[in-house]
Amino acid sequence: MEDPTKLVPRKKLFIKTYGCQMNVYDSGRMADVLAPLGYAPTDQPDDADMVILNTCHIREKAAEKVFSDLGRLRPLKAAKEGMIIAVAGCVAQAEGAEITARAPFVDIVLGPQTYHRLPEMVARATRGGKGVLDTEFPAEPKFDFLPAPRAEGPTAFLSIQEGCDKFCTFCVVPYTRGAEYSRPAADILREARGLVAGGAREITLLGQNVNAYHGDDPARSGASWTLARLIRDLAEIDGLARIRYTTSHPRDMGDDLIAAHGDVPQLMPFLHLPVQSGSDKILAAMNRGHTAKDYLNIIDKLRAARSDMTLSSDFITGYPGETDADFDATMELINTVGFIQSFSFKYSPRPGTPAAGIKAQVPDDLKTERLHLLQQVLDAQLRTFNTNCVGKTFDILLTNSGRYPGQVVGRSPYLQPVHVMADPKHIGSIVPVKIVSVEAYSLGAVWADALEPAASA
Ligand code: 5AD
Ligand code: SF4
Repeated sequence: MEDPTKLVPRKKLFIKTYGCQMNVYDSGRMADVLAPLGYAPTDQPDDADMVILNTCHIREKAAEKVFSDLGRLRPLKAAKEGMIIAVAGCVAQAEGAEITARAPFVDIVLGPQTYHRLPEMVARATRGGKGVLDTEFPAEPKFDFLPAPRAEGPTAFLSIQEGCDKFCTFCVVPYTRGAEYSRPAADILREARGLVAGGAREITLLGQNVNAYHGDDPARSGASWTLARLIRDLAEIDGLARIRYTTSHPRDMGDDLIAAHGDVPQLMPFLHLPVQSGSDKILAAMNRGHTAKDYLNIIDKLRAARSDMTLSSDFITGYPGETDADFDATMELINTVGFIQSFSFKYSPRPGTPAAGIKAQVPDDLKTERLHLLQQVLDAQLRTFNTNCVGKTFDILLTNSGRYPGQVVGRSPYLQPVHVMADPKHIGSIVPVKIVSVEAYSLGAVWADALEPAASA
């Protein structure tokens, strides 16, 4: 039978993704939902029949960027009849009305929970329905209405949990993504098997609070499945060589999950575990629900479970009321743990969050100064870790061709990008390489196998 999607005239879809990996996943799913309507991806906005900006509201800069990008899209739309512009994601959720007011040429505004309805919205916009706005938190989980995603290469993201009930005082996520929701384990396992059948060797489980995962068990007996159990189930899938998960909260770092790091070899020895601050006073003010000592205890337990465990984190400088002593406590925590990669930000007041209303805001130049000091230490830790890798042999997963002919890029167990000269036919394989050099953010390697004959000759 003829593929019905082939009967539809091809149209081009450009999606720009801002922010986190969850948005990267969502953008892929939006492309999947629109494929049956004849939309094929393009990487050129001026070529596109439809442009989606999949936005991030986490900090002010990210949100403002959307409006400047919309300004650039306006003449494109004026020049191309029928072009559809959609704003999706968290800015759309939080500022839907403002978008339609500031940029009336936008056709569709949709939140992160309604993109399964995109075909309907596109139909309405095409019929001339001005300003389709859908920022509901629908009762039906969107996952039930999405087509099964296809693997695109050896690494894949799989969204297992969404939303957040933690209400850290600085964060907009509980308002833009809504309440915590965990997908049923059976659906996740089915999706994972499909991705592996399509060539994925590594799956990264995604969620705003991924380790708070508490889905129905695969037999739907009413029992609750934890992330640790899910990881153990995923580890049974033949061909799935690597499992990762992000982003976690220290409060949900249960002993069963820590134990999984010790005895599930597919679970990679690198964890992104945001701490935000090393000061107990600031952690309490942020409503994080743990102390610096609690965090350090988790790290000790993780390293006891798996000795080569490495960590990355998120930090905020200049949270309201942060003193020099509070900042020093953060620096002390960084020195104690030793991170191999991190994200750090100046505190950015977000409308509607409790911290934005606090009077004792830290001046911007002090936030910046602390950010620079903190980043210097984090950069030095990254360099030290990378330098210490030289001479070691790792298994890397080859993921794509590099910038130079003959070069292939892979990922180490610690998520470092590694360059090696290899035939692209090996992409998708996990191969042992010896690290021989360090670049700013990547490593250079040679095939360990190729070295062996020479060494024994
Ligand atoms: N200001 C600065 N950084 C923030 N983050 C979240 N909200 C804010 C804010 N208002 C950071 C946190 C979080 C990461 C995703 O973004 O560090 O872990
Ligand atoms: Fe935001 Fe805190 Fe929830 Fe993370 S845990 S998404 S920082 S509210």
